[in-house]
Amino acid sequence: MHLNILPTTSDAIAACTAHLAQQLTSKPNSILGLATGGTMEPVYADLVAQHKQGKISFAASTTFNLDEYIGISANDPQSYASYMAHHLFDHIDILPEAHFLPDGANTDSAFAAQRYETLIEAKGPIDLQLLGLGPNGHIGFNEPGSDFASATRPVDLTASTIAVNARFFEPAEFQPHRAITMGIGTILRARSVALLAIGAAKAEAARAMIEGPTSQACPASALHTHEDVHIFLDADAASLLTAKPTETRNLA
Ligand code: GLP
Repeated sequence: MHLNILPTTSDAIAACTAHLAQQLTSKPNSILGLATGGTMEPVYADLVAQHKQGKISFAASTTFNLDEYIGISANDPQSYASYMAHHLFDHIDILPEAHFLPDGANTDSAFAAQRYETLIEAKGPIDLQLLGLGPNGHIGFNEPGSDFASATRPVDLTASTIAVNARFFEPAEFQPHRAITMGIGTILRARSVALLAIGAAKAEAARAMIEGPTSQACPASALHTHEDVHIFLDADAASLLTAKPTETRNLA
């Protein structure tokens, strides 16, 4: 686990973005695994800016998103498909047929999940999987208790995740309680992983991921079993670590 602790939030975002841009530059036909959430909005804004400056191209790349809500259509403004269009895909040169998300609108979500897993297997492996971190240690929507070997599947969101994500929904708006997520096993098959966590709300999850036991209680701790993981934290997210801020460490 390569741990990068940056002094400010913008430094952490810039370091993670540079890591993604480097992947695209060194391998233009990279298969990228992408994440959603508030953390990733400035990352995608940076990537769009770099694309508009002619520094990076997505024309040869393929992307697979981690997860999608069940029960809303792809063109619903609250879908992760809409999030990705709004924050990234509508502003870059990726081919329309080269970006994929699970089909959360399919009434047979187990079938849709299995089909997504099969598609990743057929086109993969993913070269670089981008991850955020849930305050409860989730990656994608793999909530605590998820099997480290799990495949893409429909899951029930925990009450805490529903509550944390309620900020993205209007009070009277339908908020999905289920999602299709890549499994932890799916994520671990990526060649490399980059996880970005910012802010004090992620400090306990970051501590559990990095310094706690490798346990299903903290899904992100599964990353200890992968040999090429790059963690990017700002000082607030790193505040509960025993490490001093502003350093780069390599953990076994
Ligand atoms: C969401 C997503 C995750 C994301 C995490 C953190 O629920 N399913 O992929 O990384 O929770 O979200 P945020 O960046 O908004 O804190």
